[in-house]
Amino acid sequence: MTTLKSELGRRFTERFGHPGTFYASAGRINLIGEHTDYNGGFVFPGAIDKVIMADIAPNGTDRVNVVAMDLGEETSFGLEEKDLPAQPWARYVFGVCREIIKAGGKVKGFDAVFAGNVPLGAGLSSSAALESCFAFALNDLFNSNTIEGFRLALIGQATEHNYCGVNCGIMDQFASVMGRRGQLIRLDCRSMEYEYFPFDPKDYELVLIDSRVKHELADSPYNRRRESCERVAARLGLDTLRDATMEMLDGIRSDISDEDYRRARYVIGEKERVLAVGEALQRGDYEEVGRRMYATHRGLSEDYEVSCDELDFLVDLARQCGVSGSRIMGGGFGGCTINLVRRDLRDRFIATATGRFEERYGHRPAIYPVVISDGARRLD
Ligand code: GLA
Repeated sequence: MTTLKSELGRRFTERFGHPGTFYASAGRINLIGEHTDYNGGFVFPGAIDKVIMADIAPNGTDRVNVVAMDLGEETSFGLEEKDLPAQPWARYVFGVCREIIKAGGKVKGFDAVFAGNVPLGAGLSSSAALESCFAFALNDLFNSNTIEGFRLALIGQATEHNYCGVNCGIMDQFASVMGRRGQLIRLDCRSMEYEYFPFDPKDYELVLIDSRVKHELADSPYNRRRESCERVAARLGLDTLRDATMEMLDGIRSDISDEDYRRARYVIGEKERVLAVGEALQRGDYEEVGRRMYATHRGLSEDYEVSCDELDFLVDLARQCGVSGSRIMGGGFGGCTINLVRRDLRDRFIATATGRFEERYGHRPAIYPVVISDGARRLD
């Protein structure tokens, strides 16, 4: 963190000739509740100690100059809708500016340099961290912090929808903005009520294994999953699958495609699993939490079809090593597994998983211990 900050500061002063203010926002993990957010269900995320950080200062013009330090690129854009930049990374920053303005907030010209240590394509929401970092900063710099945290998350989500082509739910931006050190958050994505759950198990640890593969599919599979769910909800006369039951789904089985049926079956099952995990956490029953994670993986792999060979292999290895729970995390098609592992098994599991994965796929996965941390903030 300190190195990142000093490198950003150096680059900013070199480029713009004066110092700025530092802001950061976090990547996230999600214990359970995958692909439930846009179905009005529950999620269980937390912010992590990997961030996107920006050094920013207003520049007294109507233009934004942004340097993406990790990419070695710079761009400049105006603040009107017609000024949409060409670079995909710049659209996140532009989108946040536009969404603040559309929501009645203020944004004026500024200079910025940003960089980060959230691994890209790992399912840890680097894009939400970027959006949340800028949303938080622009709220502080131009709006005297009058936009509340939840609205900042919605601004990030609208950026994805309107400027990046992903019809995501609210989980990632919510966790990135609202995260707190040592606490997971159970969010009800329909009522938007949320509750912090301290997460500090003595005998267990969360470990991420990053397959370092991302199978980008051309036809926006994420949006297609969402459309399946919306079709089934509409067929049931519901706004979302939140109120659907297995009985209701079975009742319309012959009217919908097998694919839509399986998508909805996963979502209905996942709703129950998140609630069960909330109760198990309150009892300190981590073995039960882990069993539910395996069940989620199975649903994501077989019914929702967002897993892949590499991730299924990692989950199988976890099971063989006696790990309490393991599943693919995030949107899918690559990225990380999240593993709930007893501390005494941790080192052996990591060694086995790393070795066997490399033997089979020819490259080593990356290992990240999970440190649940604060979300969006200004750094002094
Ligand atoms: C991505 C989206 C989230 C959520 C997850 C799956 O991370 O951005 O809104 O839908 O996938 O749980």
